[in-house]
Amino acid sequence: MTTHAGKERRDRPSAAFAAVRSSLVAFAALVLMLATLAVAAVIAAPPARSQGEDGGRYTGVASCAGSTCHGRMEGDGAVVRQDELMKWQEPSTPGGAHSRAWAVLSNSRSQFIARNLGLKDAATAPMCLGCHSTKGAIDALGAQRGTVPLEDGVGCESCHGPAGGWIASHYAGVGTNADPDRESREKHLANLSAGLRKLEDPVVRAGVCVDCHFGSSGEGQFVTHRIMAAGHPRISFELDLFSSLQAHHQEDDDYGWRKFGAAGGRTDHVQMWAVGQAVALERSLQLFQSKRGTEGMFPEFYFLDCHSCHRRIYDQAKPVKTSMDNVGRNIPEGMPPYNDENLIMLAAAARIAAPGLADQLETRTAAFHRAIMVDRASAVQAAAQLGQTVAALKSAFASRNFSGADAFTLVDAISAKAVGDRLTDYSGSQQAVMGVDTLLNSMVSSGRITVGAAAGIRGDIDRAYAAVKDPNAFKPAEFQASLGSAVRAIRALR
Ligand code: HEC
Ligand code: HEC
Ligand code: HEC
Ligand code: HEC
Repeated sequence: MTTHAGKERRDRPSAAFAAVRSSLVAFAALVLMLATLAVAAVIAAPPARSQGEDGGRYTGVASCAGSTCHGRMEGDGAVVRQDELMKWQEPSTPGGAHSRAWAVLSNSRSQFIARNLGLKDAATAPMCLGCHSTKGAIDALGAQRGTVPLEDGVGCESCHGPAGGWIASHYAGVGTNADPDRESREKHLANLSAGLRKLEDPVVRAGVCVDCHFGSSGEGQFVTHRIMAAGHPRISFELDLFSSLQAHHQEDDDYGWRKFGAAGGRTDHVQMWAVGQAVALERSLQLFQSKRGTEGMFPEFYFLDCHSCHRRIYDQAKPVKTSMDNVGRNIPEGMPPYNDENLIMLAAAARIAAPGLADQLETRTAAFHRAIMVDRASAVQAAAQLGQTVAALKSAFASRNFSGADAFTLVDAISAKAVGDRLTDYSGSQQAVMGVDTLLNSMVSSGRITVGAAAGIRGDIDRAYAAVKDPNAFKPAEFQASLGSAVRAIRALR
């Protein structure tokens, strides 16, 4: 991750939008059905893989790409931009990464990885296709779920869900309804029940992204330490930041109506960030408990702090310490700690957004660390307990409104001594700077600070990014100093 968001938030006048007609009775029944489904989803055990779809076939990118659909050259559609295809394909920007996801499996880095792993061809290897194409998702569902060309890479349906059930209806009908806003809302709800994923919901979106941007139990959706050692880039993810980097939509009044049932409805970026942290950690703990948690006689190193092993050794009379003490990880020298990048951010968020759970998070984190030193069975049990707290935090964040003032408080919390002292490892530090970046952007989008003021402290944020650019040059003390100056600059805007 070397990029950061240069977030653009365009605004368009609200467009009149009319759609299929459905009676109010049907609408009420649908709401009831969705509510029942939501309750059922809460009761069911959380899967270590997102499950948005329960039907529908995959149709492929070509079926979305018509010039009257999402393949326009200008983003001037009345309801949605309609140039989503072009944005998804944009060369040389993070926004275009998904369209290239399969193509990169033939580049020289992939050839190197394939050679090291003894694969004939990465471009057809199930081990890679789970995340670098839509095929993985289709195979996981089995049965007759359609076929999609590998060249699509990570296509529209990888995120929006298989379109078989809604492709024909989701654009149909330009009516003359007296209440187009309500009608567009009803239509969106109907699309959701036909299999369109509710990506405006932070929990749903996070589940979709972490399948590939952390890993899942599905075939070919896990980057083991062996794949990393073969040459795969490290996986780094922050939900709100990465969402902005690949965004191909804009939020205006009709978006508000459609997605949230009110003209003023908008994505809550602080909530998106907080839920993203919880979902990533929840997924990590789930997979750690599963068979993904071990590799032969070893624990799977992917779950651990990379740098705790990848350090230099000094075997000499004068001792040289290569790590920095970390009060948040009560782990003896010589044992690799669990990767706690999301845990640190969650600890900061919990104190502010769900204080009732903050102590429990701390206690169970400490218990997990202790259990790792005992044996795998104890570690698995403690991971399950910690996972319950994390799931509760996820729900608490998802049902809470975050305000602009929360963003300031969170920035303070991330840099406060109790949290700052835990930023001794590379991944946690990377996560912290992405968090501060996201929170700053949310202050702009919520109108708490001006675009100009944010631009004025871009340099400070960039210096913090520079401190986590090269994993080998990472110096915790220097990072903490550069993050500190970025945070002071933000604080001054309050
Ligand atoms: C768990 C999902 C997952 C699996 C499995 C996976 N990848 Fe990736 N891969 C990613 C993600 C996510 C990125 C982007 C990382 C980033 O920029 O944050 C990526 C990036 C890459 C890149 C760098 C792309 C570039 O633009 O330079 C290459 C090359 C690559 N993967 C090859 C492979 C190969 C070969 C395999 C199979 C051995 C594989 N990947 C398996 C998720 C995965
Ligand atoms: C990596 C995941 C991902 C991929 C791939 C993707 N999208 Fe999206 N898309 C999103 C997210 C997230 C949003 C914003 C949340 C929302 O409104 O659904 C979005 C929003 C949209 C919207 C606006 C929806 C609205 O109601 O305003 C359209 C239209 C859209 N995408 C079409 C496409 C098309 C067409 C493709 C393929 C060319 C595509 N997307 C590929 C994740 C993705
Ligand atoms: C089916 C797997 C898959 C899903 C689902 C997915 N991604 Fe990705 N994503 C990838 C792969 C693979 C890459 C790397 C492709 C490359 O480098 O060409 C990538 C790259 C990216 C990049 C560019 C990163 C960079 O460093 O340039 C962003 C941003 C991104 N994804 C955001 C998201 C978001 C947000 C979601 C959820 C809405 C999401 N992705 C869902 C597989 C996926
Ligand atoms: C428990 C210790 C441990 C942890 C944690 C660990 N590694 Fe490794 N890593 C190793 C060992 C052992 C090797 C094999 C070295 C050899 O082949 O001589 C290795 C090899 C590698 C290599 C191949 C390069 C080389 O020097 O051989 C890369 C790249 C790598 N690891 C990356 C990572 C990343 C990224 C993480 C974190 C996600 C990580 N490692 C976590 C122990 C670890």
